[in-house]
Amino acid sequence: MGAVVADALNKTFRVLDHRPGLLGAVRNLFSAAGRDVSAVRDVSFTIEPGEMVGYVGPNGSGKSTTLKMLTGILRPTSGQAVVCGLSSTADRRALARRIGVVFGQRTQLWWDLPPMEGFRLLRHIYGVPLPDFERRLEELVERLALADVLDVPVRKLSLGQKMRCELVAALLHGPEVLFLDEPTIGLDVVVKEELHTFLRALNADHGTTMLLTSHDLDDIEQLCSRVIVIDRGERLHDGDLASLHRRYGHVRRISLQLAAAGEEPWALPDGAWVERSEGRQVVIAFDADRVAAPLLVRGVLSHVEVVDLAVHEARIEDVIKRIHRGPDRPLPAAGRASPPPER
Ligand SMILES: Nc1ncnc2c1ncn2[C@@H]1O[C@H](COP(=O)(O)OP(=O)(O)OP(=O)(O)O)[C@@H](O)[C@H]1O
Ligand SMILES: [Mg+2]
Repeated sequence: MGAVVADALNKTFRVLDHRPGLLGAVRNLFSAAGRDVSAVRDVSFTIEPGEMVGYVGPNGSGKSTTLKMLTGILRPTSGQAVVCGLSSTADRRALARRIGVVFGQRTQLWWDLPPMEGFRLLRHIYGVPLPDFERRLEELVERLALADVLDVPVRKLSLGQKMRCELVAALLHGPEVLFLDEPTIGLDVVVKEELHTFLRALNADHGTTMLLTSHDLDDIEQLCSRVIVIDRGERLHDGDLASLHRRYGHVRRISLQLAAAGEEPWALPDGAWVERSEGRQVVIAFDADRVAAPLLVRGVLSHVEVVDLAVHEARIEDVIKRIHRGPDRPLPAAGRASPPPER
């Protein structure tokens, strides 16, 4: 039995007619006037205990809706979610004690209270025995370096401090599964890296299963070996990062440090283009389906003097764009004159 099982989950929202006046109101009286928005369609997957899985897709693709169904916040239109062996609908209350939820754009703490008071309230809500609470709190406060802010009202905290407090709030009852919806939104690079370190340690030390959504694909690369891609409510890919790269990651890059600046243009083969050129630093992108990396490197080396060179795998940004673009739309044409790929 997986820690998280999504079994043919569907969610359809009925959106009402917002036309003003009588016409809109009359239309809304008859349900036929509403429009159905299919937010999640037939999504199935199983996450094993201890896995850290990324859930990615463009805006409005159904990520948050899926998480809300898995955590019992929303009832699926059809299909079911089973988490820690509990149904997210029938066993909703029991489930709440076994999972932690962090929504990056919402808080479960009390705005005017210091976090410490919020934590105490949550202990009562979840019925956490005092010794367990104290032990966990001590560990979390130390790992997240929160000792100095425990008595400051939440509204006065920085975004990074708030997010770290959110994590404490989500973990005080020792959940087996943690759902994170955009946990790094708005955070700077340093705080983001601290969060990555914390989540990795949590997984290593407590075996916490995690499903996280993010638009910051660095989060996914840093934390998850498995990625589920969703688009327009449908699951497009479920596998390890490497297989995602193999399947869609056709754009690769070579970064070069030239011996001297200004040695352009070069004759690049079809399917390769200069993506960036700043002084002696140059990045060449290429479609790995059409261009063999060794040939490209040899060609470049025969034209310019290079002091350093590295070949990079595709980035997930490109991978997702590729999924969107579909297999048929060609990549930019060859050479210096070609437009840079959309970023
Ligand atoms: N309560 C709701 N009522 C009506 N439509 C909704 C509701 N919640 C979500 N939707 C619609 O369902 C679709 C999926 O939304 P969802 O929030 O799950 O996407 P998302 O992948 O989390 O997007 P984002 O990356 O912007 O957070 C969107 O078309 C959205 O407008
Ligand atoms: Mg969302």
